[in-house]
Amino acid sequence: MITLNVNGKTVQANVTDKDTPLLWVLRDVLGLTGTKYGCGIEVCGACTVLIDGQREHSCVFDVGSAIGKQIVTIEGLSPAGTQNHPVQQAWIRNQVPQCGYCQPGMIMACVAGMKAGHHGSELLSEMKHLCVCGTYQRIRDTVANL
Ligand code: FES
Ligand code: FES
Repeated sequence: MITLNVNGKTVQANVTDKDTPLLWVLRDVLGLTGTKYGCGIEVCGACTVLIDGQREHSCVFDVGSAIGKQIVTIEGLSPAGTQNHPVQQAWIRNQVPQCGYCQPGMIMACVAGMKAGHHGSELLSEMKHLCVCGTYQRIRDTVANL
């Protein structure tokens, strides 16, 4: 059993191997399925979460290294059901998603960039995510105004 801080709460997770990727602990142990699996090799960005405010690919971030740190997933970005974080609101306003699979990772990366004080084209240049549905134009239009 390990103790993690996820979305502002202290949680216990039944994990025996601290090398387990954080993604699988979030999804399979804690039931936080908003964070997605895409490539598993740090290419697509679908698994992006915040760890101590920094964007990280949870598919390759071992859970042992997350102990004692503040983990934030898409579920923790705004109070349950509200989706009222400014980035979520911008996404909704511009109807960015199609299937939605890649979008939590995109939103979390965007939030991390904004926490670092980046906006517009600088923010966009940091978001090297893949979207199978091809929502890139709407992402560009949305991020350009953040
Ligand atoms: S699943 Fe982690 S970067 Fe693609
Ligand atoms: S919205 Fe479908 S993969 Fe991006």
